[in-house]
Amino acid sequence: MILDVGMLAVSQVALYFTIKYLVNQIDVGGDPDRKKQLDKGNKVLERIGLKDGDLDEHERTIAAEIISPEDMNVTFADIGGLDGIITSLRETVIFPLTHPQLFTSSSLLSAPKGVLLYGPPGCGKSMLAKALAKESGANFINISVSTLTNKWYGESNKLVHALFSLAKRLKPCIIFIDEIDCFLRERGKGDHEVTGMMKAEFMTQWDGLVTDKDSRILVLGATNRPNDIDPAILRRLPKRFAIRLPDRAQRLKILQLMLKNTPLSPTLSLDLLAAETEGLSGSDLHELCRNAAMHPLKEVMRREGGLEGVGADFKLRPLTLKDFLTLDGDVLPPPGTNEPIAVAKQVNSYNATISELEIDDLS
Ligand SMILES: Nc1ncnc2c1ncn2[C@@H]1O[C@H](COP(=O)(O)OP(=O)(O)O)[C@@H](O)[C@H]1O
Ligand SMILES: [Mg+2]
Repeated sequence: MILDVGMLAVSQVALYFTIKYLVNQIDVGGDPDRKKQLDKGNKVLERIGLKDGDLDEHERTIAAEIISPEDMNVTFADIGGLDGIITSLRETVIFPLTHPQLFTSSSLLSAPKGVLLYGPPGCGKSMLAKALAKESGANFINISVSTLTNKWYGESNKLVHALFSLAKRLKPCIIFIDEIDCFLRERGKGDHEVTGMMKAEFMTQWDGLVTDKDSRILVLGATNRPNDIDPAILRRLPKRFAIRLPDRAQRLKILQLMLKNTPLSPTLSLDLLAAETEGLSGSDLHELCRNAAMHPLKEVMRREGGLEGVGADFKLRPLTLKDFLTLDGDVLPPPGTNEPIAVAKQVNSYNATISELEIDDLS
């Protein structure tokens, strides 16, 4: 009898620990990525002086998405040709977050609670958002759709709630939603009920910021497709910046930035290259430069049959215009025939097709 009770007790204890172990495994999803995310979240919390215990489970999930300004490696100086927009962002976004006392004297001066960056892909919207986080010194929550959409009924709402409650603790804080059109797409028949509820919760929380004048929290959205955004959301993003394809002068600035550490032949005119690259986005130009910069290296590799015999003090030859017009061994006709565009479009054909989409001017 005593033995039986003992056995029962032991088996119960074993069962308890087995279940506890399994639950812990499930908690982190048994997924190393998720665990890494939570660890990352904990580090951020340490920095901002919150303890793990201060947050509920949902806030901890969101905490992993916080990016501190020190971790950002993009500054406004890295962005070419958008000086006007940068100045405007400083005045309307950064100063109200960092100097709230100057903006409370009149209700007309209060900071916008929603800012939208829109325009064709590859023109620097995400870059601007990152630099904004860096230069404003504000906490930055880079929230992705997958973090908020949870298939369990009611969980998404709790996550949205956690997002805003965490932002309030971290203020000044920027909530950044890249590709905001996917997240808060126009409510359609295909919309899942959960998504609809999450959206409603998001808007309620967001409106709470507008009534609280001192909230110092801003929702920043970026999109390639402003026309797909739910009008209710668009209304809450009153401050809008169009980030268009760069013009010739802007392309020159971008090229100068991208090539500033690359030896260039004295005969290479960046001005000419800028003129020849009409229609290319910043990311197309980046691809063009990367491609060109590979050429001297490839030549060495072909000549030496590898890189083994090449010493560390080896200097690559400067780039010429031809490097920009040649794509992986195919020599294209000389400039004057719009060929560089063809090159870059070929390199980045996905971008090229999308940048042809019409975007209505919202401003
Ligand atoms: N104005 C710019 N100045 C410098 N680099 C740029 C610029 N626009 C785009 N790029 C380059 O293109 C890449 C993609 O830009 P990104 O900001 O992600 O574009 P978007 O978010 O508008 O689609 C950047 O990482 C950068 O290398
Ligand atoms: Mg982007």
